[in-house]
This record gives sequence, C-alpha cells and structure tokens, in this order.
Amino acid sequence: MNYQIAAIPGDGIGPEVTKQALRVLLSVGDVFGHTFTIHNYPAGGIAIDETGECLPISTVDGCNVADAVLLGAVGGDKWDSQPRENRPETALLGLRKALGLYANIRPAIMFDELADACPLKPEFVAGGLDLVVVRELTGGIYFGEKGTKQTPMGLAGYDIEIYAEEEVRRIGRVAFEMAMKRDKKVTSVDKANVLESSRLWRRVMEEVALEYPEVVLSHLYVDNAAMQLVIHPKQFDVIVTGNMFGDILSDEASMITGSIGMLPSASLADKGFGLYEPVHGSAPDIAGLNVANPMAAILSVAMMLKYSFGLTEEADSVTSAVKEVLSMGYRTTDLIRTPSDLNEETEQKILGTLEMGSLIAARIKRNI
Ligand code: IPM
Ligand code: MN
Repeated sequence: MNYQIAAIPGDGIGPEVTKQALRVLLSVGDVFGHTFTIHNYPAGGIAIDETGECLPISTVDGCNVADAVLLGAVGGDKWDSQPRENRPETALLGLRKALGLYANIRPAIMFDELADACPLKPEFVAGGLDLVVVRELTGGIYFGEKGTKQTPMGLAGYDIEIYAEEEVRRIGRVAFEMAMKRDKKVTSVDKANVLESSRLWRRVMEEVALEYPEVVLSHLYVDNAAMQLVIHPKQFDVIVTGNMFGDILSDEASMITGSIGMLPSASLADKGFGLYEPVHGSAPDIAGLNVANPMAAILSVAMMLKYSFGLTEEADSVTSAVKEVLSMGYRTTDLIRTPSDLNEETEQKILGTLEMGSLIAARIKRNI
C-alpha cells in the first residue's frame, strides 16, 4: 500500500525526534512492503518565523489530503510575546479544530524495563501500569466563548466551559470502544458536584454505557481522580474526560510512569484519520543537542500504523523494537534517574537521538 504522511516537525526538539520517527516508519515500509510518502509542513514558531503565521492554510490543506499526520512539538520562549491569535499553541488548537480531531488518546504505560524510573513506591505499581486517558479535544473551555469585560471588580477575563450532548456521546463511544478491547472499565471524570456542563456530561456517559453492557462505568470528581492516580493508579483502565481535565490528568498519568519521553499520543477524527505526536513538548533547552529521547515519537508512529492504517503487525514490530532495545540496556539520558545507575558498562549504552533512532530502525530490519 501507498500512504501519504504529512509531517509537521515544529519547534525545539520536534524536528530531531520526528526525523528519527520517520526513519523508523520508512524501515517498516521496507520490511513490510509499504510506501510511505512524506510531505513536510511548517506549524508553530517556525511557521511564524517563515511565513508570519503560526498555522499557514497550506499546512491545514496538506494535512487534509494526507492519510495521517505526524507532529513533533510546537512552542518555545522565543514566541511567548506573540499575541494569542498567533502563538505556536494556537497552531496546535487550530489544527485540532480544523481537522476535527476530537478524540485524544494518551496511553500511560510503564515499561517493565523502566520500572525504576517510576516516582511512586514500587508496591503501588507492582505488576506494571497500563491505562489510557481519552481526552475530548475540540470542545469545552478551550473552545468556548472567551473574552474580557468590565466589572465592578475591574476588567475580567472569561472562558466558558460548554459541552453539547453529541460531543460527549462521540467521545464516550471512543472510550467505551477502547475499553471493549482492554479491561472493560471506563472511569468518567467530571466535576458534576459543581458544574452544569459536568452534570450533562455524566448523564450522557450513563446513556452511552447502556450501549456497552459489558463495560463497567464509574464516575469520579476530578479532584478525587487526581488523588486516586497517585495512590491507586492500577484501578484505572480507560479514563474519559473533557478537554481541560484531560490536559491536566494526562500529564499526571504520564509522569507516574516515570518516563514522559516514552509516551506517544493520537488525536483522532472520524474514519481513522489522525494526528500523532509525542506527549512531551518542544523542550527548547535541549533542542539541537542530539540528546532528546525519540522513542515517544517513534511509538507515535506505532499508533499511526495501528489506528489510521489498521496495520497491527507493523505497529507491533515498532513497539517490540523499542522494548528490545531497552532490554538490551540502551537508554537516552532522560531515562537515567540517579548517578548510581551509571557505571562503565551502562555509560556506553547511553545513546543520542540519532543513534537511538538508528538502533530501533535497524532492529526492525533485524540488522541487530
Ligand atoms: C497538550 C498541550 C496543549 C494543550 C497546549 C500546548 C495548547 O498542553 O497537548 O496537552 O493544552 O492541549
Ligand atoms: Mn498538556
């Protein structure tokens, strides 16, 4: 098969990790007999520098005609003084909206090989951790009416949290479908003790649950969910929540695995179209130094193969290659927690971005 891939390397470490992820994708193509044609587009800070606009229309058009999108990261201090309409983050939000990417899938998986990196006590995560946050991505307070107005207390800023039934229903279905392929547990997170939008969210989730009698639905208030994630993370299978709660909880969930540099994500529209990106950001402080961990970007390619193209064997080959390279002892610097992890032998196995990409690509081709 021939697939058209829109690549948006973006800012900071985005270009470095995207490059390695694309090399891995091309290796998969060689091994399994697929052609992946890569088209590069600017978005974020680099687009502001090159075109004056954070999200040129040609980038949106390019994504729209592609079969899937691979994004690195956007943002950096350099563009912090830009007005809100033209910030790198606005490019990301604009892409999500323009491409209809309403379902953000953020798995938080603890790799056995990296269990030491988990900041929780070992007994809290015994046997590993494997949960997924399904975050609504094109609605809620991020996209509700916003503005400023004069009040007796001075100028006020406001952002409205608003969810319509169909928006909740479609993200609910994504979460329940996912749970059907996993442990059949959905935890819906809201703030229904305070917010009207959450009360509607909860009612619709109950309705969706009727379509999936095998799946057990429970509800948690977001404050409790934040707490449960650090004291009893293994109770979770699929967490479904709105845009802002999902933003916060997915960072928390990723951090308890200890290795944010390992975590991929998918942002899906209907009919399998998706944008794939590492969960970590642009990390401008280490950009260009060849030290960034490319594995989250590489695992994002695995998600692309699985969710957009239905190529599960190909996807598994990428995930396995990453695990095998880890079990051989190879690491990027972010995965080294304490100096005591370092000795002469392990030190030789610390790889740069490019070298880690090469190793994983070679492993897929069975050259190592
Ligand atoms: C994320 C990021 C974005 C978000 C920012 C950069 C707009 O934090 O993808 O989680 O808040 O959604
Ligand atoms: Mn975030």
